[in-house]
Amino acid sequence: MHVTTVDQPVATMEADAIVIGIHQDTDLSGAAAEADAASGGQLASLIAAEEVSAKLAALTSWLSPAGLASPHVVVVGLGDAEQLDARGVSMAAGAAAKLLAGKQRGRVVFYLGESWSAELVTRAVTAAVAGCQGQDLYRSERSLHPFTELGWASSDQQAVEHGRLLGEATNLTRRLVNEPAGMIYPETFADAAQQVADDVGLEIEIWDKTKLEEERCGSLLAVAQGSDKEPRLLILRHRGQESENPQLALVGKGVTFDSGGLSLKPSEGMKAMKCDMAGAATVLGAMRAIAELNLPCHVVGLVGLVENMVSGGAYKLGDVLTARNGKTIEVLNTDAEGRLVLADVLDVARQQKPDHVIDLATLTGACVVALGTHVCGVMTNDQDWCDQLLLAAERCGERAWQLPMYAEFAEQIRSKVADIKNIGEGRWGGAITAAKFLEEFVGDLSWVHLDIAGPAFRDSADSWIDAGGSGAMLLTLVQLARELGS
Ligand code: BES
Ligand code: MN
Ligand code: ZN
Repeated sequence: MHVTTVDQPVATMEADAIVIGIHQDTDLSGAAAEADAASGGQLASLIAAEEVSAKLAALTSWLSPAGLASPHVVVVGLGDAEQLDARGVSMAAGAAAKLLAGKQRGRVVFYLGESWSAELVTRAVTAAVAGCQGQDLYRSERSLHPFTELGWASSDQQAVEHGRLLGEATNLTRRLVNEPAGMIYPETFADAAQQVADDVGLEIEIWDKTKLEEERCGSLLAVAQGSDKEPRLLILRHRGQESENPQLALVGKGVTFDSGGLSLKPSEGMKAMKCDMAGAATVLGAMRAIAELNLPCHVVGLVGLVENMVSGGAYKLGDVLTARNGKTIEVLNTDAEGRLVLADVLDVARQQKPDHVIDLATLTGACVVALGTHVCGVMTNDQDWCDQLLLAAERCGERAWQLPMYAEFAEQIRSKVADIKNIGEGRWGGAITAAKFLEEFVGDLSWVHLDIAGPAFRDSADSWIDAGGSGAMLLTLVQLARELGS
């Protein structure tokens, strides 16, 4: 989408539609006050008559407003001015964009945030770019139509440009998640990553099956062996700083389809499992944004790509695998495959000697039971690093909540025949036993695990974002790369 800054007054702005924001319990100000004056007080009367609401993300179409050059104004509520944060501006901007994207439009101009910080402007533009992109990639009649041109009334060109680029990175992640497993499998995901790397100048290394065997990635390879699709492991690098070791490693689970394997999922649990590569897609989207922003930070992104399927060659219950770091793993459930993939990718990450690691994975249904569908589970072996991540998430308006990592959870994954087994005892605390499993492979790295099984894929739409892939936590990753580089 073409995004530009504009500085023309709202009354004379000729656009297919414009968006203005109003706050609760205050006099109209900025563009809203100008539009009201131009229309001879129409907007204020509509608000007084309670036809227009200022509640956060409330939308009202004001058609053919008197005295304004634009035929269509969307008035969006911004709630209480004092409480407006990153999440609030995202909801408001995303909702207005999504409403207007309901039909094809040329130029849409947002008069939002003329007095906001650059950070909030960026956040709002990101949400607007994401808000007009839908999940219906294969419908002949799309439900949402990205605008030909998005104008933003702001003097801060850079804030707006950053918003565009983060919005497009988010949409890349969302599209990869939304593509069906017949389109996106390890090889085609790797092609997409190669394309991104070429476009934005990331270094990329692609490990095929032979290389994975040479590297003794026995844990990842076992998951892949039931599928006709060959696995891949990708290493992307942004060298924004001359340091030999990366400051940050981002690791993503890329199970392009999770049937559960021989521990087969029922249809209900399987139908959305094209989303099981969301961790990998989020790492790729974040790496693209980090490269485009040219952040002064050395970051590597590593993703493990496999398809978890059933066949005569599939891995079995009772199999014992040897992971890349030498630990042996007894397989007691082939549906606990994400941790097996990450075990080897985390070991490759460890070899890069990064200062900090974050892994992202749609890892457990248990995490969704614990925190619901909109909150990311956070687990760590380094509280300071975790605190930094939680603060960054808050700043970006992303929901994340820490779960404990008490030592006794690790007892549940001790095996009688191997070093560890890939499930805990029973279902309770399943998000934590999964994280304890991963912890076996990070050594003494400073590490945070993000279980995005809930927020990565939305079953239903909200007013500000369509259902399907969400890009959850991408902005937080970019924010952290920014902080580590400064
Ligand atoms: N990919 C699933 C987790 C998942 C569930 C992601 C719901 C998104 C939405 C994962 O591979 C899985 O199947 N986990 C099992 C682990 C269990 C067998 C220990 C689960 O959560 O049931
Ligand atoms: Mn699974
Ligand atoms: Zn899975």
